[in-house]
Amino acid sequence: MSAKQEEFAELDTPALLLDLDQVERNIDRYQRGAASAGLQLRPHAKAHKCSAVGRIQVERGAVGLCCAKLGEAEAMAAGGVRDLLVTTPVVGGLKIRRLVDLARSAKVAVVVDDESNIAELAQAAGSAGVQIDVLVEVDVGQARAGVAPGPRAAELATVIARSRGLRFRGLQGYQGKLQAVASFSDRDALVREAMGKLRLASDGVRAAGLDCTVATGGGTGSFPIDIRLGMLTELQPGSYVTMDTAYAKVALAGEGDEHPLGQPLTILASVISKTTAGKAIVDVGWKSASSDGGLPSVKNRSDLIFEFAGDEHGSIRSSAGELNLALGDRIELIPSHCDTTVNLYDRFAVHRSGRLEGFWTIEARGKSQ
Ligand SMILES: Cc1ncc(COP(=O)(O)O)c(C=O)c1O
Repeated sequence: MSAKQEEFAELDTPALLLDLDQVERNIDRYQRGAASAGLQLRPHAKAHKCSAVGRIQVERGAVGLCCAKLGEAEAMAAGGVRDLLVTTPVVGGLKIRRLVDLARSAKVAVVVDDESNIAELAQAAGSAGVQIDVLVEVDVGQARAGVAPGPRAAELATVIARSRGLRFRGLQGYQGKLQAVASFSDRDALVREAMGKLRLASDGVRAAGLDCTVATGGGTGSFPIDIRLGMLTELQPGSYVTMDTAYAKVALAGEGDEHPLGQPLTILASVISKTTAGKAIVDVGWKSASSDGGLPSVKNRSDLIFEFAGDEHGSIRSSAGELNLALGDRIELIPSHCDTTVNLYDRFAVHRSGRLEGFWTIEARGKSQ
Protein backbone atom coordinates (compact mmCIF):
# COMPACT_ATOMS: atom_id res chain seq x y z
CA MET A 1 0.00 0.00 0.00
CA SER A 2 1.40 3.42 -0.95
CA ALA A 3 1.66 6.27 1.58
CA LYS A 4 -1.25 7.96 -0.19
CA GLN A 5 -3.47 4.87 0.07
CA GLU A 6 -2.71 4.59 3.78
CA GLU A 7 -3.53 8.25 4.25
CA PHE A 8 -6.82 7.90 2.40
CA ALA A 9 -7.77 4.60 4.06
CA GLU A 10 -9.99 6.46 6.55
CA LEU A 11 -11.76 8.33 3.77
CA ASP A 12 -15.15 6.86 2.90
CA THR A 13 -15.97 6.38 -0.78
CA PRO A 14 -17.04 7.63 -3.23
CA ALA A 15 -15.08 10.78 -2.39
CA LEU A 16 -14.16 13.74 -4.57
CA LEU A 17 -10.44 14.44 -4.19
CA LEU A 18 -8.65 17.66 -5.05
CA ASP A 19 -4.86 17.87 -5.29
CA LEU A 20 -3.99 21.37 -4.05
CA ASP A 21 -0.47 21.47 -5.48
CA GLN A 22 -1.87 20.83 -8.94
CA VAL A 23 -4.79 23.26 -8.42
CA GLU A 24 -2.30 26.02 -7.60
CA ARG A 25 -0.13 25.16 -10.60
CA ASN A 26 -3.17 25.36 -12.92
CA ILE A 27 -4.34 28.64 -11.36
CA ASP A 28 -0.89 30.21 -11.65
CA ARG A 29 -0.45 29.04 -15.22
CA TYR A 30 -3.53 30.89 -16.50
CA GLN A 31 -3.01 33.85 -14.15
CA ARG A 32 0.49 34.37 -15.55
CA GLY A 33 -0.79 33.97 -19.12
CA ALA A 34 -3.46 36.63 -18.63
CA ALA A 35 -1.15 39.02 -16.76
CA SER A 36 1.60 38.76 -19.37
CA ALA A 37 -0.94 39.81 -22.02
CA GLY A 38 -2.15 42.69 -19.82
CA LEU A 39 -5.59 41.09 -19.42
CA GLN A 40 -7.71 40.51 -16.36
CA LEU A 41 -8.72 37.05 -15.24
CA ARG A 42 -12.22 36.52 -13.89
CA PRO A 43 -12.41 32.71 -13.59
CA HIS A 44 -15.76 30.99 -13.84
CA ALA A 45 -16.89 29.46 -10.53
CA LYS A 46 -19.38 27.18 -12.31
CA ALA A 47 -16.65 24.53 -12.53
CA HIS A 48 -15.53 24.30 -8.87
CA LYS A 49 -18.51 25.92 -7.05
CA CYS A 50 -16.35 26.30 -3.94
CA SER A 51 -15.50 29.64 -2.32
CA ALA A 52 -12.22 28.30 -0.87
CA VAL A 53 -11.00 27.67 -4.43
CA GLY A 54 -12.40 31.05 -5.53
CA ARG A 55 -10.51 32.83 -2.76
CA ILE A 56 -7.24 31.22 -3.91
CA GLN A 57 -7.91 32.46 -7.45
CA VAL A 58 -8.47 36.00 -6.17
CA GLU A 59 -5.44 35.87 -3.83
CA ARG A 60 -3.33 34.87 -6.83
CA GLY A 61 -4.48 37.74 -9.02
CA ALA A 62 -8.02 37.23 -10.34
CA VAL A 63 -10.19 40.40 -10.30
CA GLY A 64 -13.19 38.42 -9.08
CA LEU A 65 -15.28 35.48 -10.23
CA CYS A 66 -17.94 34.71 -12.79
CA CYS A 67 -21.02 32.80 -11.67
CA ALA A 68 -23.49 31.05 -13.94
CA LYS A 69 -26.43 31.49 -11.59
CA LEU A 70 -27.48 33.93 -8.91
CA GLY A 71 -27.41 31.12 -6.31
CA GLU A 72 -23.77 30.49 -7.18
CA ALA A 73 -23.02 34.20 -6.76
CA GLU A 74 -24.76 34.29 -3.36
CA ALA A 75 -22.67 31.31 -2.23
CA MET A 76 -19.41 32.89 -3.43
CA ALA A 77 -20.24 36.22 -1.75
CA ALA A 78 -21.09 34.44 1.52
CA GLY A 79 -17.70 32.72 1.21
CA GLY A 80 -15.86 36.05 0.95
CA VAL A 81 -15.53 36.69 -2.79
CA ARG A 82 -16.75 40.24 -3.28
CA ASP A 83 -16.53 40.97 -7.01
CA LEU A 84 -18.92 38.86 -9.05
CA LEU A 85 -20.27 38.75 -12.60
CA VAL A 86 -23.42 36.70 -13.21
CA THR A 87 -22.96 35.48 -16.78
CA THR A 88 -26.59 34.45 -17.34
CA PRO A 89 -29.48 36.95 -17.54
CA VAL A 90 -31.30 37.47 -14.23
CA VAL A 91 -34.96 37.76 -15.13
CA GLY A 92 -38.16 38.37 -13.12
CA GLY A 93 -38.98 40.08 -9.82
CA LEU A 94 -38.12 37.10 -7.61
CA LYS A 95 -34.56 36.91 -8.83
CA ILE A 96 -34.00 40.64 -9.28
CA ARG A 97 -34.86 41.23 -5.61
CA ARG A 98 -32.13 38.72 -4.68
CA LEU A 99 -29.68 40.41 -7.06
CA VAL A 100 -30.36 43.79 -5.44
CA ASP A 101 -29.85 42.25 -1.97
CA LEU A 102 -26.55 40.79 -3.13
CA ALA A 103 -25.48 44.20 -4.49
CA ARG A 104 -25.72 45.62 -0.94
CA SER A 105 -22.83 43.42 0.23
CA ALA A 106 -20.82 42.71 -2.94
CA LYS A 107 -19.84 44.36 -6.21
CA VAL A 108 -22.19 42.70 -8.65
CA ALA A 109 -22.42 42.78 -12.43
CA VAL A 110 -24.97 41.05 -14.63
CA VAL A 111 -25.52 40.47 -18.35
CA VAL A 112 -28.65 41.47 -20.26
CA ASP A 113 -30.04 41.04 -23.75
CA ASP A 114 -33.52 42.55 -23.38
CA GLU A 115 -34.92 46.04 -22.83
CA SER A 116 -37.74 45.02 -20.45
CA ASN A 117 -35.17 43.22 -18.28
CA ILE A 118 -33.07 46.42 -18.17
CA ALA A 119 -36.15 48.40 -17.09
CA GLU A 120 -36.90 45.91 -14.30
CA LEU A 121 -33.27 45.94 -13.10
CA ALA A 122 -33.18 49.77 -13.13
CA GLN A 123 -36.45 50.06 -11.23
CA ALA A 124 -35.26 47.62 -8.51
CA ALA A 125 -31.71 49.01 -8.20
CA GLY A 126 -32.88 52.65 -8.31
CA SER A 127 -35.50 52.25 -5.60
CA ALA A 128 -33.10 50.25 -3.37
CA GLY A 129 -30.38 52.86 -3.82
CA VAL A 130 -27.77 50.36 -5.06
CA GLN A 131 -25.71 50.33 -8.24
CA ILE A 132 -25.50 47.31 -10.50
CA ASP A 133 -22.97 47.03 -13.30
CA VAL A 134 -24.53 45.79 -16.52
CA LEU A 135 -23.00 44.26 -19.64
CA VAL A 136 -24.81 43.51 -22.87
CA GLU A 137 -24.49 39.89 -23.90
CA VAL A 138 -23.72 39.44 -27.59
CA ASP A 139 -24.38 36.15 -29.39
CA VAL A 140 -20.99 35.40 -30.95
CA GLY A 141 -22.05 32.00 -32.28
CA GLN A 142 -23.30 30.05 -29.27
CA ALA A 143 -26.94 30.63 -30.29
CA ARG A 144 -28.30 30.68 -26.76
CA ALA A 145 -28.63 34.09 -25.04
CA GLY A 146 -27.37 37.39 -26.43
CA VAL A 147 -28.27 40.00 -29.03
CA ALA A 148 -27.14 39.67 -32.64
CA PRO A 149 -23.79 41.40 -33.24
CA GLY A 150 -25.43 44.31 -35.10
CA PRO A 151 -26.74 47.68 -33.85
CA ARG A 152 -28.86 46.11 -31.05
CA ALA A 153 -25.90 46.01 -28.62
CA ALA A 154 -25.41 49.79 -28.94
CA GLU A 155 -29.17 50.40 -28.53
CA LEU A 156 -29.29 48.41 -25.28
CA ALA A 157 -26.04 50.00 -24.04
CA THR A 158 -27.60 53.44 -24.55
CA VAL A 159 -30.70 52.43 -22.55
CA ILE A 160 -28.51 51.09 -19.70
CA ALA A 161 -26.35 54.22 -19.65
CA ARG A 162 -29.51 56.34 -19.18
CA SER A 163 -30.93 54.16 -16.37
CA ARG A 164 -30.71 55.19 -12.73
CA GLY A 165 -29.11 52.49 -10.57
CA LEU A 166 -27.32 50.85 -13.52
CA ARG A 167 -23.85 51.43 -14.91
CA PHE A 168 -22.99 50.27 -18.42
CA ARG A 169 -19.66 48.42 -18.31
CA GLY A 170 -19.28 46.69 -21.66
CA LEU A 171 -20.03 43.46 -23.50
CA GLN A 172 -19.93 39.72 -22.91
CA GLY A 173 -19.30 37.37 -25.83
CA TYR A 174 -18.85 33.69 -25.01
CA GLN A 175 -18.72 30.89 -27.56
CA GLY A 176 -18.87 27.56 -25.73
CA LYS A 177 -19.13 25.30 -28.76
CA LEU A 178 -15.57 25.97 -29.84
CA GLN A 179 -13.90 25.48 -26.44
CA ALA A 180 -13.37 21.74 -26.80
CA VAL A 181 -12.41 21.67 -30.50
CA ALA A 182 -9.35 19.43 -30.26
CA SER A 183 -7.25 20.94 -33.07
CA PHE A 184 -5.52 24.19 -32.12
CA SER A 185 -5.69 25.64 -35.65
CA ASP A 186 -9.41 24.83 -36.11
CA ARG A 187 -10.16 26.38 -32.71
CA ASP A 188 -8.02 29.40 -33.54
CA ALA A 189 -10.09 30.11 -36.68
CA LEU A 190 -13.36 29.73 -34.75
CA VAL A 191 -12.21 32.03 -31.93
CA ARG A 192 -11.21 34.70 -34.46
CA GLU A 193 -14.61 34.44 -36.16
CA ALA A 194 -16.45 34.75 -32.80
CA MET A 195 -14.31 37.64 -31.60
CA GLY A 196 -14.85 39.42 -34.95
CA LYS A 197 -18.56 39.49 -34.05
CA LEU A 198 -17.81 40.95 -30.63
CA ARG A 199 -15.57 43.57 -32.26
CA LEU A 200 -18.45 44.59 -34.53
CA ALA A 201 -20.69 45.08 -31.49
CA SER A 202 -18.07 47.02 -29.50
CA ASP A 203 -17.34 49.29 -32.49
CA GLY A 204 -21.09 50.04 -32.62
CA VAL A 205 -21.18 50.86 -28.89
CA ARG A 206 -18.22 53.23 -29.24
CA ALA A 207 -19.75 54.86 -32.31
CA ALA A 208 -22.81 55.58 -30.12
CA GLY A 209 -20.50 57.59 -27.85
CA LEU A 210 -20.24 55.11 -24.97
CA ASP A 211 -17.21 53.65 -23.25
CA CYS A 212 -16.98 49.92 -23.74
CA THR A 213 -14.60 49.35 -20.84
CA VAL A 214 -15.01 45.59 -20.48
CA ALA A 215 -15.12 42.88 -23.14
CA THR A 216 -15.50 39.63 -21.21
CA GLY A 217 -15.65 36.01 -22.37
CA GLY A 218 -13.49 33.06 -23.29
CA GLY A 219 -12.96 29.69 -21.67
CA THR A 220 -10.25 27.14 -20.98
CA GLY A 221 -10.00 26.08 -24.64
CA SER A 222 -9.90 29.56 -26.18
CA PHE A 223 -7.54 30.96 -23.51
CA PRO A 224 -4.21 30.54 -25.36
CA ILE A 225 -5.80 32.21 -28.41
CA ASP A 226 -7.62 34.96 -26.46
CA ILE A 227 -4.40 36.11 -24.80
CA ARG A 228 -2.80 36.65 -28.21
CA LEU A 229 -5.81 38.10 -29.99
CA GLY A 230 -6.37 41.07 -27.69
CA MET A 231 -10.13 41.45 -28.29
CA LEU A 232 -11.21 40.50 -24.75
CA THR A 233 -10.13 42.58 -21.77
CA GLU A 234 -11.27 39.98 -19.23
CA LEU A 235 -11.08 36.18 -19.48
CA GLN A 236 -13.54 33.70 -17.96
CA PRO A 237 -11.96 30.21 -18.01
CA GLY A 238 -13.52 27.78 -15.53
CA SER A 239 -12.42 24.18 -16.08
CA TYR A 240 -8.69 25.00 -16.14
CA VAL A 241 -8.53 24.69 -12.34
CA THR A 242 -9.95 21.20 -11.88
CA MET A 243 -9.71 19.95 -15.48
CA ASP A 244 -11.24 16.71 -16.79
CA THR A 245 -10.61 14.09 -19.48
CA ALA A 246 -12.55 16.07 -22.11
CA TYR A 247 -10.19 19.04 -21.79
CA ALA A 248 -7.14 16.75 -21.58
CA LYS A 249 -7.81 15.92 -25.26
CA VAL A 250 -7.82 19.59 -26.29
CA ALA A 251 -4.50 20.91 -27.62
CA LEU A 252 -3.78 24.01 -25.53
CA ALA A 253 -0.10 24.33 -26.37
CA GLY A 254 1.92 23.88 -29.55
CA GLU A 255 1.88 20.60 -31.48
CA GLY A 256 3.83 17.94 -29.54
CA ASP A 257 4.14 20.11 -26.41
CA GLU A 258 3.10 18.73 -23.04
CA HIS A 259 -0.44 19.64 -21.97
CA PRO A 260 -0.01 22.77 -19.82
CA LEU A 261 -2.69 21.84 -17.26
CA GLY A 262 -2.66 18.88 -14.87
CA GLN A 263 -5.57 16.84 -13.50
CA PRO A 264 -6.11 17.59 -9.76
CA LEU A 265 -9.72 16.33 -9.61
CA THR A 266 -10.36 12.63 -9.04
CA ILE A 267 -13.03 10.38 -7.58
CA LEU A 268 -11.85 7.83 -5.05
CA ALA A 269 -13.74 4.58 -5.61
CA SER A 270 -13.70 1.19 -3.82
CA VAL A 271 -14.07 -2.30 -5.22
CA ILE A 272 -17.30 -3.62 -3.65
CA SER A 273 -17.79 -6.85 -5.62
CA LYS A 274 -15.62 -9.25 -7.58
CA THR A 275 -17.64 -12.28 -8.44
CA THR A 276 -16.74 -12.54 -12.13
CA ALA A 277 -13.24 -13.21 -13.43
CA GLY A 278 -11.75 -10.23 -15.24
CA LYS A 279 -14.28 -7.76 -13.80
CA ALA A 280 -14.51 -5.69 -10.61
CA ILE A 281 -17.47 -3.61 -9.46
CA VAL A 282 -16.78 -0.24 -7.83
CA ASP A 283 -19.08 2.06 -5.85
CA VAL A 284 -19.23 4.84 -8.46
CA GLY A 285 -22.15 5.09 -10.88
CA TRP A 286 -24.18 7.83 -12.53
CA LYS A 287 -24.95 9.43 -9.15
CA SER A 288 -21.29 10.01 -8.32
CA ALA A 289 -19.67 10.63 -11.73
CA SER A 290 -21.36 12.57 -14.53
CA SER A 291 -21.73 10.89 -17.91
CA ASP A 292 -22.60 13.83 -20.21
CA GLY A 293 -18.92 14.12 -21.16
CA GLY A 294 -18.38 10.37 -21.64
CA LEU A 295 -16.67 7.85 -19.38
CA PRO A 296 -14.27 8.69 -16.55
CA SER A 297 -10.80 7.24 -16.96
CA VAL A 298 -8.75 5.42 -14.33
CA LYS A 299 -5.83 7.50 -13.04
CA ASN A 300 -2.36 6.04 -13.64
CA ARG A 301 -3.89 2.82 -14.98
CA SER A 302 -4.42 3.18 -18.71
CA ASP A 303 -4.89 -0.62 -18.80
CA LEU A 304 -8.13 -0.32 -16.76
CA ILE A 305 -11.43 0.57 -18.41
CA PHE A 306 -14.37 2.02 -16.44
CA GLU A 307 -17.96 1.59 -17.58
CA PHE A 308 -21.15 2.71 -15.87
CA ALA A 309 -23.13 -0.20 -14.41
CA GLY A 310 -26.05 1.77 -12.93
CA ASP A 311 -26.80 4.64 -10.57
CA GLU A 312 -24.49 3.34 -7.83
CA HIS A 313 -22.20 0.90 -9.64
CA GLY A 314 -19.36 1.00 -12.12
CA SER A 315 -17.50 -1.90 -13.68
CA ILE A 316 -13.75 -2.15 -14.26
CA ARG A 317 -12.09 -4.37 -16.84
CA SER A 318 -8.50 -4.64 -17.87
CA SER A 319 -7.39 -4.35 -21.47
CA ALA A 320 -4.57 -6.72 -20.49
CA GLY A 321 -7.12 -9.46 -19.64
CA GLU A 322 -6.21 -10.37 -16.08
CA LEU A 323 -7.44 -7.93 -13.43
CA ASN A 324 -5.29 -7.45 -10.31
CA LEU A 325 -7.91 -5.78 -8.12
CA ALA A 326 -9.27 -7.29 -4.89
CA LEU A 327 -12.35 -6.53 -2.79
CA GLY A 328 -11.80 -3.27 -0.86
CA ASP A 329 -9.06 -2.00 -3.20
CA ARG A 330 -9.28 1.63 -4.18
CA ILE A 331 -8.77 3.36 -7.49
CA GLU A 332 -8.98 6.98 -8.59
CA LEU A 333 -11.16 8.00 -11.52
CA ILE A 334 -10.66 11.19 -13.52
CA PRO A 335 -14.07 12.71 -14.37
CA SER A 336 -14.93 13.29 -18.02
CA HIS A 337 -16.68 16.61 -17.22
CA CYS A 338 -15.69 18.53 -14.10
CA ASP A 339 -18.70 20.90 -13.76
CA THR A 340 -21.38 18.23 -13.70
CA THR A 341 -19.34 15.88 -11.50
CA VAL A 342 -18.48 18.52 -8.87
CA ASN A 343 -22.20 19.36 -8.70
CA LEU A 344 -22.81 15.83 -7.32
CA TYR A 345 -20.69 16.28 -4.17
CA ASP A 346 -20.99 18.21 -0.89
CA ARG A 347 -17.25 18.62 -0.38
CA PHE A 348 -13.77 18.16 -1.76
CA ALA A 349 -11.30 16.05 0.21
CA VAL A 350 -8.23 18.22 -0.35
CA HIS A 351 -4.73 16.78 -0.30
CA ARG A 352 -1.20 17.98 -0.80
CA SER A 353 1.89 15.89 -1.53
CA GLY A 354 -0.11 12.74 -0.86
CA ARG A 355 -1.43 13.84 2.55
CA LEU A 356 -5.05 14.61 3.30
CA GLU A 357 -5.38 18.26 4.44
CA GLY A 358 -9.11 18.44 5.16
CA PHE A 359 -12.47 19.04 3.54
CA TRP A 360 -13.72 22.06 1.61
CA THR A 361 -17.45 22.57 1.26
CA ILE A 362 -18.76 22.91 -2.29
CA GLU A 363 -21.28 25.57 -1.24
CA ALA A 364 -22.75 26.21 -4.66
CA ARG A 365 -23.45 22.59 -5.60
CA GLY A 366 -27.06 22.30 -6.67
CA LYS A 367 -27.45 26.09 -6.60
CA SER A 368 -29.06 26.32 -10.01
CA GLN A 369 -31.65 28.96 -9.11
C1 LIG B 1 -20.32 32.29 -19.97
C2 LIG B 1 -19.24 31.28 -19.73
N1 LIG B 1 -17.98 31.73 -19.54
C3 LIG B 1 -16.96 30.88 -19.30
C4 LIG B 1 -17.18 29.50 -19.21
C5 LIG B 1 -16.01 28.63 -18.84
O1 LIG B 1 -15.75 27.65 -19.74
P1 LIG B 1 -14.68 26.48 -19.45
O2 LIG B 1 -15.15 25.70 -18.27
O3 LIG B 1 -14.76 25.73 -20.70
O4 LIG B 1 -13.40 27.13 -19.20
C6 LIG B 1 -18.47 29.00 -19.43
C7 LIG B 1 -18.72 27.56 -19.41
O5 LIG B 1 -19.74 27.03 -19.72
C8 LIG B 1 -19.53 29.91 -19.67
O6 LIG B 1 -20.78 29.49 -19.85
